[in-house]
Amino acid sequence: MIDSEALIARAEGLVRSARSLDALHEAQVELLGKRSDLAAARSALGKLDPSERPAAGQKLHEVREQIEGLLARRRSELEEELRASRLQADRLDLTEVPVKASRGRLHLVQRTRDELEDVFVGMGFVVAEGPEVETDWYNFEALNMPPAHPARGMWDTLYLDIGDPETVLLRTHTSPVQIRLMQGQGPPIYAVMPGRCYRRDTPDARHIPIFHQIEGLVVDRGISFADLAGTIETFTTAYFGPDIHSRLRPSYFPFTEPSAEFEATCTICKGKGCRTCSHTGWVELGGCGMVDPEVFAAVGVDSEEWTGFAFGFGIDRLAQMRHVIPDMRILLENDVRFLRQI
Ligand code: PHE
Repeated sequence: MIDSEALIARAEGLVRSARSLDALHEAQVELLGKRSDLAAARSALGKLDPSERPAAGQKLHEVREQIEGLLARRRSELEEELRASRLQADRLDLTEVPVKASRGRLHLVQRTRDELEDVFVGMGFVVAEGPEVETDWYNFEALNMPPAHPARGMWDTLYLDIGDPETVLLRTHTSPVQIRLMQGQGPPIYAVMPGRCYRRDTPDARHIPIFHQIEGLVVDRGISFADLAGTIETFTTAYFGPDIHSRLRPSYFPFTEPSAEFEATCTICKGKGCRTCSHTGWVELGGCGMVDPEVFAAVGVDSEEWTGFAFGFGIDRLAQMRHVIPDMRILLENDVRFLRQI
C-alpha cells in the first residue's frame, strides 16, 4: 500500500515549486499520470484481498482528490499572476503627460460680457445680436440722424468700400440692433444687445478702435423715465455690489429724448473721490434715455401706444474699471502674461 502522507507531502512540494502553468502541467503528469505512484497503487489494488479493496480504494480516491485540489489552487494562482503581469506590461503611464498642456481661458472682455448677460437675463431681459457691418440707415438714419446731421460727428466712422461711398460701415455702436429688433419682432421688447463696435479712434489709455458695447432696450405700454432709472440702479448694484450706486446726468443723443449719461460710484475710492474719478466720486458708464418718437416712426412703432427706454455702455470700459486696468490697449495685445493674470 502507498504512504499517502508522503505522497501528499511530495505533491505539495512539487506543486509549490511549479513557477509556470507548463511546469504545473508537468507536475500534474508526474503526480496523477499513467506512470505516477498513484496509478501504480491503483493497479496494485487488484492484488489486494477483496475485503481490503474498498477501504484502500477509498483512500486512493481521497489522496487523488487532495492532489487535484492542490493543483487547481496553484493553477488559479499562476493564472492570476499571468494576468497581472500582462496588465502591467500593457499599462500606460498617464500620470505624466509628455508635453505640459496649459489650459486656456476666456478673454477678460468675453468673461465680462458673459457676466453682464447673466445679470440682465436675471432681470428678465433676453439677449439679441446683430451684424457688425451695417448700412448707414441702421447705424444713423433710423436712429434719427439724417445724412449730414451734425450728431454723426459723435462717432468717428469706419466706412467700407462697398456700394456708394459712405453707405456701408462698421457699426459705431450697438444701437442699430435696437432698430432691427423693433422692425423684426416689434413691442413688447425687453432685450440686451452685446457686441463688437468700431470707431476711427486713435488708441490711448481709455480708447481702442475695436471695442464692445452692451445695449439695452425696453419697449412696452406705460414705460417711464423712472423705469429707466430703476433698471440702471438695479443693474449697477447687481453687477458691482450693494455699495455701488448710479446716477443720471442730462445729456444728448439724437435717438433718445430726454437723454442722460449714467454714472456709477467710483469703484476705486467707493465715492470718496480719487484721481481716477477726478475727485467727483463718480465714473461715467454710458448713455441712456427714452426712445425718441422719431425712432419709433422710422420702424413703424406707434409712439402713442408704446414708450420705451434704451441704454448703452462699453464692456471693455467696465472691465477696465472693475479690474483697475490702467491702459485699455492691453486688451488687444494678447500678451499672455496679462491674459493669465485675470
Ligand atoms: N449708442 C450710444 C453710444 O454709442 C449709447 C446709447 C445707447 C445712448 C442707447 C442712449 C441710448 O454712445
